[in-house]
Amino acid sequence: MERIVEIEKFDSEEGSVEITLRPDAWNEYIGQDQIKKNLSVFIEASKKRQEALDHVLFFGPPGLGKTTLALIIANEMNANIKVTAAPMIEKSGDLAALLTNLEEGDILFIDEIHRLSPAVEEILYSSMEDFRIDIIIGSGPAAQTVKIDLPRFTLIGATTRAGMLSNPLRDRFGMSFRMQFYDSNELAKIIAQASNKLNKEILHEASMEIAKRSRGTPRIALRLLRRVRDFADVAEELDINHSRTQYALNELGINSHGFDEMDLRLLNLLVSANGKAMGLSTIAASLSEDEGTVEDVLEPYLIANGYLERTAKGRRATRMTYDVLNISAPRDEGGLF
Ligand SMILES: Nc1ncnc2c1ncn2[C@@H]1O[C@H](COP(=O)(O)OP(=O)(O)OP(=O)(O)O)[C@@H](O)[C@H]1O
Ligand SMILES: [Mg+2]
Repeated sequence: MERIVEIEKFDSEEGSVEITLRPDAWNEYIGQDQIKKNLSVFIEASKKRQEALDHVLFFGPPGLGKTTLALIIANEMNANIKVTAAPMIEKSGDLAALLTNLEEGDILFIDEIHRLSPAVEEILYSSMEDFRIDIIIGSGPAAQTVKIDLPRFTLIGATTRAGMLSNPLRDRFGMSFRMQFYDSNELAKIIAQASNKLNKEILHEASMEIAKRSRGTPRIALRLLRRVRDFADVAEELDINHSRTQYALNELGINSHGFDEMDLRLLNLLVSANGKAMGLSTIAASLSEDEGTVEDVLEPYLIANGYLERTAKGRRATRMTYDVLNISAPRDEGGLF
């Protein structure tokens, strides 16, 4: 199903706008205060020691700013950064080529790092820990192992699926950070800042309105901002006001609780179980989605906001869900709610 919140990272038109809206310094990176605070300490310490930063892992739902953080780290460290994604590293030779081309202090960013093949992962282990890789040259009885020393580099990994990382890989990251959803005030700041870059003023109420409907996610907020700006431009309004914003968001079918169509399908499904828990595989099959998408893309926002509960028996709608969907909740027999 088409989602306006869909992650079309490589969508060229919007992709290029995203790049210009991407903050490149700490002061433009709003929220995630704990992560920022810790990272600045570690960055400063490694700069003082003139060493490469330890390897960093970011995990959490899509669009919360993992890639942006990696770019800011590179900026702060004055380091070169090579950006790649696990599906692009098919063979161990691909990784070896990437690694041997790095220079002292460089950063290698691997997105979707949970998708590395086991053979590639194994090479990554030794490179992360010992800054050395073993390459096999030739084949059969004449095959030889050659050890190659690597420069001290920093690996930054990002994943939406921390649960799918193997333990040995996870353990080799010196720091790992879980990204949090953003609150409305933070999103409103991000929207105002981006609007400024787009040379279109947005009134505070309007940015709050977009913020509330953005599923706690900057990427969605920025996408909605662009769409609302289209409505304002067509109406020849100089700034983005509250009523135009409300009108535009309603036209786009964006729910006032921040739910999109997929969220509503999931919540309606859970509510139809009438208080009973539903297993992940049943949910995925009913929505024609894979389990990973349900678990990592759909559920985190709903759980963080109290609309969905994970129990030993499966997933369940909360009382709040029944309330916002305007459906009367089943009688609370087993102390369900
Ligand atoms: N804290 C922030 N402050 C300002 N803008 C942000 C912030 N976090 C993210 N953004 C903006 O949101 C967009 C999405 O962020 P980013 O691409 O870093 O997310 P991601 O976590 O890497 O997502 P994915 O898992 O899909 O790769 C970027 O264009 C960036 O400009
Ligand atoms: Mg990313």
